[in-house]
Amino acid sequence: MFAGKYKGAKVLVTGNTGFKGSWLCLWLQQLGAEVVGLADALPTSPAMYELLKLERTIKQYWVDVRNADAVLKAVRAEAPDIVFHMAARSVVRHGFTDPLGTLAVNAMGTANVLEAVRQIAKPCSVVVVTSDKCYDNKEWPWGYRETDALGGRDIYSASKASAEHITHAYVASFFGNNDDIKVVTARSGNVIGGGDWSDHRIVPDFIRAIEAKTKMELRHPEATRPWQFVLEPVSAYLRLGQVLQTGNHIHGEAFNFGPGYANSITVATLLETLNKRMTDKPLSEVVTQSENRDHREAGLLKLTWDKAHAQLQWAPVLSFNETIDLTADWYRAYLAGDGMLTVTQQQIEGYYQKAVNQKLVWAS
Ligand SMILES: NC(=O)c1ccc[n+]([C@@H]2O[C@H](COP(=O)([O-])OP(=O)(O)OC[C@H]3O[C@@H](n4cnc5c(N)ncnc54)[C@H](O)[C@@H]3O)[C@@H](O)[C@H]2O)c1
Repeated sequence: MFAGKYKGAKVLVTGNTGFKGSWLCLWLQQLGAEVVGLADALPTSPAMYELLKLERTIKQYWVDVRNADAVLKAVRAEAPDIVFHMAARSVVRHGFTDPLGTLAVNAMGTANVLEAVRQIAKPCSVVVVTSDKCYDNKEWPWGYRETDALGGRDIYSASKASAEHITHAYVASFFGNNDDIKVVTARSGNVIGGGDWSDHRIVPDFIRAIEAKTKMELRHPEATRPWQFVLEPVSAYLRLGQVLQTGNHIHGEAFNFGPGYANSITVATLLETLNKRMTDKPLSEVVTQSENRDHREAGLLKLTWDKAHAQLQWAPVLSFNETIDLTADWYRAYLAGDGMLTVTQQQIEGYYQKAVNQKLVWAS
């Protein structure tokens, strides 16, 4: 898997206590990497990081990425072979409640990580995780390509576009002709799967409502989103890291990742399908339509991932039904009090087997 590039590699994951970061850390451990985490805190309670018992198995730096000195100290102490930078204020709404904090963490935090890598001047591959929201959303019905304009009319989106600009400026200014330090950015969004408890996200809001036996407030049932299971972007980040480790032909590039067309469906259909897998009640007993519509929420935004397919031979593995099944299975097991480390390991293994069956290059 991933051509064995992670076996014995020292890998620093920022934002490793979060939803995607925890899945990535566990997979990296299964690949034989020496994983080091850097995050400011546990972002939620419960937290995937705790359920996977990662505090016992990885070295953790409790560092705020806004603190350039502390980031440099950690990067210098570890001298990682590969960095996955995922630390971020990750929810669009936080950009409205704390614009300066969101900009500082997402934009300057990215600069601080890249600056630390520059300062230690040691061979390193860096994958900077931004978002599908980094594009100037023109409400086009077709997918955005890596060459489309960056933008963002809300602070979160602008912070992620800024992280892109900062990364590409670091490449052009410092890492351009450098065979040692190689950097790419990864853009994707609408990730679902077990272990997410963030505020203001559809699936965690739904799970919290089931658990508390309350009703979830739904603001935009008709909004269409390209939903993807968490292991799809995580496999993409791992593939990027692998390819960076083998040469510099993708150095300085940006890549989109997304699901197949059939995964672009409405919030209402997503919840309807998830509800059928998780409760025996009609959806109307679990969800209530809110009168408070948030008009700042963007419309359809989907990405084309043709470039990732052509240059990385990456493709999504799961259908929409499989995406929902894995998500429902995970939360059902959690609500039943099962050991979530085993469940999560099994989901990674099952995902890998499907990728093998589909003859994806990274899985060979
Ligand atoms: N989940 C999605 O649907 C989605 C979509 C697009 C992009 N992303 C991006 O993917 C990355 C991971 O997303 P996620 O869903 O796992 O987010 P998450 O909110 O679950 O985790 C965020 C992580 O960043 C850390 N963090 C936040 N502020 C920090 C700070 N000041 N200093 C250090 N660490 C800090 C948190 O502690 C946590 O470990 C983020 O960059 C996010 O913007 C996520």
